[in-house]
Amino acid sequence: MKKQPIGIFDSGIGGTSIWKEVIKLLPNENTIYLADSKNAPYGEKSKEEIISLCIKNTELLISKGCKLIIVACNTATTNAIDYLRKNYTIPFIGIEPAIKPAALLSKTGAIGILATKGTLISELFEKTTANYTKNITTIEQDGEGLVQLIENGELNSYKLNELLISYIKPMLNYGIDHLVLGCTHYPYLIPQIKKIVGKNVVIIDSGEAVARQTKAILEKHHLMLVSPQKSKHLFYTNIETNVLSEILNDVLVKFTVEKLDF
Ligand code: DGL
Repeated sequence: MKKQPIGIFDSGIGGTSIWKEVIKLLPNENTIYLADSKNAPYGEKSKEEIISLCIKNTELLISKGCKLIIVACNTATTNAIDYLRKNYTIPFIGIEPAIKPAALLSKTGAIGILATKGTLISELFEKTTANYTKNITTIEQDGEGLVQLIENGELNSYKLNELLISYIKPMLNYGIDHLVLGCTHYPYLIPQIKKIVGKNVVIIDSGEAVARQTKAILEKHHLMLVSPQKSKHLFYTNIETNVLSEILNDVLVKFTVEKLDF
């Protein structure tokens, strides 16, 4: 069982930002990644639609023998993780916007949250926000359009930069000192975001925390692969492979990217 892969899925290529953290912390593990780019963005879909896409991804990963599944998508986690945990016995790791650390560390008392509409309107997000931001002003912004541009490989386009400015500048006017990236696609925009927010705003994403949690759950279930081996990493996408391959071009370990109809 230990040699079975860790499964990871996202609405597209964004969850690779999580995958990169996971293999850094768990270099012996084998992984299978599903990029459901054909159905991106999840953030514009209803809860029911998101749950049914998550079922499809989960069942494919289980059929490929995965021992644990990382839902590397805030939108999928906040809408579907309760359903998945109730209906499957395999352990799931989810990802949610890192509101708690941002709220605890904020000195100005104002934090910004950039996430998809699907995440911002979810019950789970509302609950977490209510728990941790009692004395904090939170400025929530729907990053509409960003996921699609990233999926198109337009990371450095003028259009994307203009959208980012229009989303982030108003937050700066509220005096935010932390900006939470509540979507796994957004860490790929950190260089552009840094240029907009300057040095006084800390950008927070949840990638490392997810990797640590994955390690803890593998240990708890005695599923961690400790002996060094040549790990295998397989990426499946249901559209052309070029943008996914491009986003992985800084990866030093061996991996394979394949197109699969799912
Ligand atoms: N990476 C997904 C997330 O973390 C993007 C959701 C979408 O496809 O809209 O929310």
